[in-house]
Amino acid sequence: MAFQKKVSKIERCSGLSDKEFYNKYVKKSVPVVVTDKATWASSEKFTPKFFKANYGHLKRTIDGKTYTLSEIIDLCMASTPENKAPYPNIFDLNQDFPEFVDEIPLIVYGKSNRLFSPLLLNTFAKRTNQRQLFFGGKGCSFPTLHIDYLGVHTQLTQIIGEKDFILYSPDQTPYFYPDKILRNQSPVNIMDPDYDKFPLFKNAEPLKTTLKPKETLFIPSGWWHTTYIHNFNLTYAIDHVNSFNWNTFMDEIYLSAKQKHPKLAWIVKGYKVVLGKTFDVKEALLN
Ligand SMILES: [Fe+2]
Repeated sequence: MAFQKKVSKIERCSGLSDKEFYNKYVKKSVPVVVTDKATWASSEKFTPKFFKANYGHLKRTIDGKTYTLSEIIDLCMASTPENKAPYPNIFDLNQDFPEFVDEIPLIVYGKSNRLFSPLLLNTFAKRTNQRQLFFGGKGCSFPTLHIDYLGVHTQLTQIIGEKDFILYSPDQTPYFYPDKILRNQSPVNIMDPDYDKFPLFKNAEPLKTTLKPKETLFIPSGWWHTTYIHNFNLTYAIDHVNSFNWNTFMDEIYLSAKQKHPKLAWIVKGYKVVLGKTFDVKEALLN
């Protein structure tokens, strides 16, 4: 996989065909904000009142404490940097809001999103083929600088409020001192870095953007990122695997399988090749 060495800012784009988008951003591993693909993300419909009235009873446990969605919304609305709401508050479209599944169209980066193909074994897809809604409040931020699990691309569509995204290109990985076991997590607190402990972080060059309602951020596979929230916030998030990051995705699954079942992990390698070719052929026919 070839990574773009230097991008000086996160562009905004619109009016591109799927092919143009793939060639300009996905293939070059360049993050971008798409401004014309999320007409469904109506902050008039998806209001705090709407969620409290229709789904207020749903429950989530965050940091060991269980809250209803109604309580989460109240906490997020009252959140301040000094007294933050719990975060992240993640709900799944398929399980929690099945009524929205048909309402929210799937964007495809490339020929298909292989995570949602019936050809991909659920055991490999299950942690990444969710369609998530994140509720947040002022002052909340994602707990760590991280790369999304298993090398997926990420799509984030803003529905309510504004969210800052701070991104770092994959070639800067040594500056983030990745955890030896959880290789996609950095111990560096980028909001208040300890330069004595992490001196290389001084070299890091972030790209920042603020996502507004109806805008969609594409974060390519392997990019480090974290977020910061300015006001009551609702974001839709979905992962993507296509021909560009298929090998990365399956290699990560192989490494995980090797730790748990060393004698059987070779099966994953074979599966990667056979299913990868099957997808390639199937997608070639889509032209
Ligand atoms: Fe992420």
